Amino acid sequence: MAANKTYKPCDLVIYGGLGDLSTRKLLISLYRLDKAGLLEPDTQIIAVDRYEKQHDEFIEIASDSLKNFLKAPVEEDIWERYAARLKYIKIDLTQMAEYAKLKSLIAPEQRVLVNYLAVAPFLFTDICQGLNQAGLVNDEARLVMEKPIGHDLKSSRQINDTVAEVFNENQVFRIDHYLGKETVLNLLALRFANSFFTTNWDHNTIDHIQVTVAEDVGIEGRWEYFDHTGQLRDMLQNHLLQILTFVAMEPPANLDAKNIHNEKIKVLEALRPITANNVEQTTVRGQYSKGFQQANPVPGYLEEEGANTDSTTETFVALRVDIDNWRWAGVPFYLRTGKRMNYKRTEIVVYFKHLPHNIFHDSFRQLPPNKLTIHLQPNEGIEIEMLNKVPGIDDDIKLQKTKLDLSFSETFKKSKLFGGYEKLILEALRGNETLFLSREEIEQAWTWVDSIVNAWEKTNEETHSYPAGTWGPISSDALLARDGRAWES
Ligand code: BG6
Repeated sequence: MAANKTYKPCDLVIYGGLGDLSTRKLLISLYRLDKAGLLEPDTQIIAVDRYEKQHDEFIEIASDSLKNFLKAPVEEDIWERYAARLKYIKIDLTQMAEYAKLKSLIAPEQRVLVNYLAVAPFLFTDICQGLNQAGLVNDEARLVMEKPIGHDLKSSRQINDTVAEVFNENQVFRIDHYLGKETVLNLLALRFANSFFTTNWDHNTIDHIQVTVAEDVGIEGRWEYFDHTGQLRDMLQNHLLQILTFVAMEPPANLDAKNIHNEKIKVLEALRPITANNVEQTTVRGQYSKGFQQANPVPGYLEEEGANTDSTTETFVALRVDIDNWRWAGVPFYLRTGKRMNYKRTEIVVYFKHLPHNIFHDSFRQLPPNKLTIHLQPNEGIEIEMLNKVPGIDDDIKLQKTKLDLSFSETFKKSKLFGGYEKLILEALRGNETLFLSREEIEQAWTWVDSIVNAWEKTNEETHSYPAGTWGPISSDALLARDGRAWES
């Protein structure tokens, strides 16, 4: 991951330049990169969409995006520099002849063409072919793709095959924005730069691991997309499995993309398949009903705008995952993710094993195990729960649970960490593939997720209701209770 700090300037073309992703995230992240001095002076940003817009109109759209979503004042001198990079061009992406219009704006000899697909996947083929037919794809050109990359293994392969007709694998950058989050990246440092974690990170010392990705938001007006997708495909197939691979993988030989990808694939290959025989003991599907969020009433999933009232799509999923390899034999990973849960909270909790013998009976009948909590968002940081003697000279030894608490914002004196998109856009501009997903990785993740979907279909797995503003259905608690465990509250 030792990327060059300077890189050849780029023509970053955003397809779907007027869409949600572009106006809410990409244009904002690019402004932040510019402000941090991380965009090369000659880099251009070219938004492509199907609507007729004059240059000034687009500049106004970009300016409004910053006002609405930057969450900080726009600095006049930075804005001027940034706005000078912005261009807009109208292209009907389904018309091959129209891609030639890009030629007047890009300069492949001086700048690398980075194509960012912020559009629905059905347009991916047309874009790849349009660029190819217009002669715009040279060896340096790159393609950045957003999820969803397919709906299952079959459709994911189709997309990857189409892309492979035009771009080599090393030119393709598949984004999972969780891999740009500081705290997810910090998992590499935590695990591979600290000897007490390199040596205490397997079935000998760890009892089980929990990963929670709880969202407070509902489906945010995306009924059609979400109802066809569900939480398993929307969140688990990508974000949670990525976190899982970072937690579970073997140490890579170095930080090169190939080595990291290989170690992650090995974890995905070792996931125990979920089948009709074990699906009931290992999975829970849930759907939110109306409830309260921070004391405000919110509608249930079936009352959301555009809802079809008999949908059984899951907005919550909890799984017990077993990794069948030497390191993790007998150590379950419990994953849960849901919309409209009590509050936003993304964390990993590692429960270490109970000590086999207790000499502190006066304090605890059984010594509570050490616990490592990694807060991925919000309030990024790390906590270790451990036992300490309560100070006092004439008392018997009395133990108390205590916390070592490392808050990133206090330790690093940064009030706001960069979000995932800034990091990933920068890495794509620099041409560093480490934080992107390889084709094999995505397809392996789909293979495993397809096994769950098939098992659900075969067994007609029920969707359990949970009131909005809670931590999911009761059956999710039962999933852990069966193993004598409980979710971190
Ligand atoms: C997206 C999902 O990938 O991630 C959304 O499509 C979800 O449904 C979002 O809300 C969550 O991202 P974050 O960064 O807010 O945790």
